[in-house]
Amino acid sequence: MFKKIKLSDNLPKHIGIIMDGNGRWATKRGLPRNLGHKEGVNAVDRTIDALIKFNIKVVTFFAFSTENWKRSKQEIDGIFDLLRNYFINQKEEFLLKGVKLMSIGDVDKFPKDLVDELRNLQEKTKNNDKLIVNLAINYGGKDDIVRAVNNLIAEGKTEITKEDISSHLYTADLPDPDFVIRTSGEERISNFMIYQMAYSELYFPKVLWPDFGEKDLLKALEIYSKRERRYGGIK
Ligand code: FPP
Repeated sequence: MFKKIKLSDNLPKHIGIIMDGNGRWATKRGLPRNLGHKEGVNAVDRTIDALIKFNIKVVTFFAFSTENWKRSKQEIDGIFDLLRNYFINQKEEFLLKGVKLMSIGDVDKFPKDLVDELRNLQEKTKNNDKLIVNLAINYGGKDDIVRAVNNLIAEGKTEITKEDISSHLYTADLPDPDFVIRTSGEERISNFMIYQMAYSELYFPKVLWPDFGEKDLLKALEIYSKRERRYGGIK
């Protein structure tokens, strides 16, 4: 069925992914929640490889939201460890694959050594152009908008346009997401890129994030490729 897709046709340039279901994946197996997140990192790697294969140019993974601070310290520290190790271990891989790492969100609230590793990998990969992997960490869509408006006020603006807001969001250098996938069957946006998603196509597959792989991405792309985007207009 998938072979019918002509992958050069009508593909999203930027995909946002809300990686939901790690906790349920672990609980179903009687494992601690953090093992679900660990398996979630493997799904991130598989997805990056598949995105490169299908020539997608930008992906934003929602890895830690401004609301995730409500979780236990143990779970938060576990996610920090995964991120830190990821930044340390991906150097060669990202260079080999042509991945450029970016991030959105207020990372100043994160441990300094983790942020140092993030900045280090961003610097090392800044000239890559095969795929932009943008991590939303300590990110919230409402925070993003408030921060943009405050920066505009600080610049002395008294009247602002939509373009002013777009150019002051964390995503100023990225196209808006064409397609947002949330795994695990939950159908919510959860304060993801709310301003940028005004016209995004949405897709909510049942698969839990740790089980997500190339075939799930292909199915998603097939669904996207059949959608007709009208941006409020008519055909
Ligand atoms: C949502 O599932 C997942 C998260 C809040 C964390 C996602 C983080 C990772 C996969 C690690 C990120 C690392 C890299 C390298 C990008 P959930 O815990 O809410 O699942 P549940 O709804 O089943 O409990």
